This record gives sequence, structure tokens and C-alpha cells, in this order.
Amino acid sequence: VGAYRVLGLETSCDETAAAVVAASRDDCGLGGGQILAQALVSQLEEHRPYGGVVPEIAARSHLDHLDRLVTRALRDSGVALRDLDAIAVTGGPGLIGGVLVGVMTAKALAFAAERPFIAVNHLEAHALSVRLPGGVAFPYLLVLASGGHCQLLAVEGVGACRRLGTTIDDAAGEAFDKAAKMLGLGHPGGPAVERRARAGDPRRFALPRPLVGRPGCDLSFSGLKTALRQTVERLDGPPSEQDIDDLCAAYQSAIADCLADRARVAARLFAERHGAGHPLVVAGGVAANQHLRDRLQEVAVANAMTFAAPPLALCTDNAAMVAWTGIERLRLGLTDTLDFRPRPRWPL
Ligand code: KG4
Ligand code: ZN
Repeated sequence: VGAYRVLGLETSCDETAAAVVAASRDDCGLGGGQILAQALVSQLEEHRPYGGVVPEIAARSHLDHLDRLVTRALRDSGVALRDLDAIAVTGGPGLIGGVLVGVMTAKALAFAAERPFIAVNHLEAHALSVRLPGGVAFPYLLVLASGGHCQLLAVEGVGACRRLGTTIDDAAGEAFDKAAKMLGLGHPGGPAVERRARAGDPRRFALPRPLVGRPGCDLSFSGLKTALRQTVERLDGPPSEQDIDDLCAAYQSAIADCLADRARVAARLFAERHGAGHPLVVAGGVAANQHLRDRLQEVAVANAMTFAAPPLALCTDNAAMVAWTGIERLRLGLTDTLDFRPRPRWPL
């Protein structure tokens, strides 16, 4: 029988990563795989002076690191290239330079080793990441919140995500990043805002909750960012340390309220179609935020749903989720040909 062993590559934004994941050939329904090896380089420091990700720098850095990370992941996994069952890579959406580096590397490996090639949608990789540790069956309601994307999805199966709502302007991670920049907390903003919010009073400053209470599941964060700027400008003088803590707490709480409210609406729509008792899942970089997890867990309980989130290391960009998605697709015979073209825009 044996297991599937798949190499995954991730280069769509500012992490270069390779991982080997193993799982049984059949899905028991609940997912469940084993990370045999993982190698990752974050470009955080390279982009820090610019206050955001610089595409050109990102692409060159992926090129510098990817070969070495693949070699290391394969070595640590104990799996030889020719013994892999497939090579999976993020084929988009993402920054085109980085996606090209990953896709061309994966194609070369697949061609040389005569192994199947699988182009993975980065959003689907985030969407399925919660099934890698196991214990989560389809269908589930997903809050996907990262730096580039913010959506509510009904995940009904592999290649079967239905979009219930999306942000009409910024993504949640982007909202965290812009606030952090405004407050001088550096990039990426999410972890810094969360840290400062712990010592802050979320009630001292009143910030809006865009779209909350409205019908539908769409999200909006740009008004919140503007309100934060106006609040900072109304302070007499530059914000004190305590001001920053309180502003971060208010801002984080507003973002979590927005996501929780939209998840509440989505939960009702989801239940109409699928019934009760399914999981509410949060994934993507912003899912690392504990306050958000707590708020969404409350929504799950109130709607007779279970709650699940991937471990922190699987929330932010990584290659294990790409390899795992490769396994899920391989099981269904969903492989790609070597003429696959990178897709910088690739809606789910
Ligand atoms: O999924 P991800 O690693 O990359 C994208 O595909 O975009 O998400 C990165 C985003 C960044 O905007 C970062 O600020 C945010 O996730 N993030 C957080 C936290 N950790 C990362 N946001 C809020 N709280 C956190 N603890
Ligand atoms: Zn991502």
C-alpha cells in the first residue's frame, strides 16, 4: 500500500519554503498527514527597510534560497527525489516573479525525476491547511484572512470552495500592516499590533465597525484605517507608549468584531445548505491572532459549530500546506502538465 509522499514549494510572497509531507493514499474523511521535513527562509529582514514587500527583491531572494531549501527538505525527509509521488508548487495567486521561480523549479524537478507536477492555488492551500493535522472533514466554513486576501468560503471539498463574501477593499492582514506602519511598529504589522494590544484598553478609543449589521458577508477595512489615522491626529502630540497600546487594542478588537459579525452571517447561510455541527475554521496569516481566534470560537459555539484552526506555523505562508494540498489533489488524480502557466491572479 504505502503512503503518498509529496514535495511542496512556496514562493508566492516573502517566504521561500520547501516541505515533504506524507499521508495515506486514501482519505479517511478527516484529512491527516505527517510533515516529514520542512525548510523555510523568511525575507522579513530584507524587506523591512522598505516597510513592505518589494516584488523584485522577493523574486531574487527566492532564486537565491530555493535550491538549498529543496535539497535540505529532501535530505531531512529521507525521501529521494525519484521516490516522491508528486511535486507540488504554488502556481498563484501571488507576486509573479516569485511564483515563476517556484513553478520553474518544480517543473524542472518533475521533469528530471519523471514525477507528476501539481500546480496549487495558494488560497486553496490556506483553505486545506487545517486538514493537514487531521480531524476536520468537509464541508466547513472558512474565514481566510491573510495579508493579500480576506474571504469567507464554504469549503465543500478539494477544488470545491464557494465564496460567500470577500473584502471590498483591504485584506485584514493589510489592515494590520497599515496600522502598524502608521504607529511606527514596523512590518509585518499583525504580530506587533497583537503584542501591543495585550497591554492596551480596547475601550479608550472608539473605532467604527464597517459593514457590521449589514446583510451579506462582505468585509471592508479601509474606513477603519482612516478612522485610526484621524484618532491619532486628534491626540495632542505624538502617541505615547500607552496611547499606542490602547490604539492597537481598539483596532484589533474592531477587526475581530468585523470578521466575527460577517462569520455569523456566513454561518447562517452555511447552515441553510449544510445543516449544523460542521466546523468553523480560521486560516491564513491573520489566524495567528489569538483575540480573533477567541471571537470566532464564540461565533462557532453560538451557531452549533465546532471550531478549528491550524497550528500557528501552518497559518502564515509555508510549504507544508502546499505539499498537503498536492496530496489531496493527487488522491483525486488532479495533476497538471508542464505547460502550466503561472497565474498571478487566480481566484478560488
Ligand atoms: O498568510 P500570510 O503569511 O501571507 C499572505 O498570503 O498574505 O499572511 C501574512 C499576514 C500579514 O499581513 C501579517 O501582518 C498577518 O498575516 N499576521 C497577523 C498575525 N500574524 C501575521 N495578523 C494579526 N495577528 C497576528 N498575530
Ligand atoms: Zn498566504
